[in-house]
Amino acid sequence: MIRLRPYKACDAQYIVKWIRNEQEFRLWSADRYNEFPIDGDKMNEYYDSFKDSDSFWPMTAFDKNGVVGHLIMRFTDKNKTVVRFGFVIVDNSLRGKGYGYEMLQLAIKYAFEILKVNKITLGVFEQNESAIKCYKSVGFKEVLHEQKSYHMLNQEWNCIEMEMRGAQKKVYENLIQLCKNL
Ligand SMILES: CC(C)(COP(=O)(O)OP(=O)(O)OC[C@H]1O[C@@H](n2cnc3c(N)ncnc32)[C@H](O)[C@@H]1OP(=O)(O)O)[C@@H](O)C(=O)NCCC(=O)NCCS
Repeated sequence: MIRLRPYKACDAQYIVKWIRNEQEFRLWSADRYNEFPIDGDKMNEYYDSFKDSDSFWPMTAFDKNGVVGHLIMRFTDKNKTVVRFGFVIVDNSLRGKGYGYEMLQLAIKYAFEILKVNKITLGVFEQNESAIKCYKSVGFKEVLHEQKSYHMLNQEWNCIEMEMRGAQKKVYENLIQLCKNL
């Protein structure tokens, strides 16, 4: 069982160790950090730059053994009705075991039930298959939009935009319930 709580500066030392190479680092963070690798202090410095913003906050997933996942949330509109997830990551030794799915489910619950937003959005590079699969498995849908691309590691990387609407989440939950009852 995993749980979700606000991020603390002491989490950074674990999170930065989950990134195994620069390719993975850029898939995770795009161009948000200038240098690679980063250490825990750099991560905290970046998050500290938002300390006076009430529209950006990091979260940490944990289980009985400690920190297992991380993501940030930020409001993208003036009325705070849309939240965007970013920096989604799971401990590299625990990937493929459902932790990402569980963490995102908690984050979605938090967004709709506590923040009371209407929509959650996120961006993911098109070659990040495991992330796309994970986002789809919790109910995110690809949306058509003007293709955004980033110049990353001497290549052009295309970003897929995904979203989940409050109403969409209800339909998805009902479908899951229906399948369970079959
Ligand atoms: C993306 C990430 C958070 C997913 O977390 P995870 O714990 O590995 O994912 P889960 O085990 O919960 O898997 C959820 C779904 O994705 C699928 N999946 C996960 N990893 C996969 C892989 N490598 N290949 C294919 N499918 C994969 C699972 O099969 C599962 O689908 P299902 O419910 O249909 O069985 C994790 O891989 C990660 O930290 N990646 C590095 C950082 C990153 O790139 N983040 C994304 C930034 S946009």
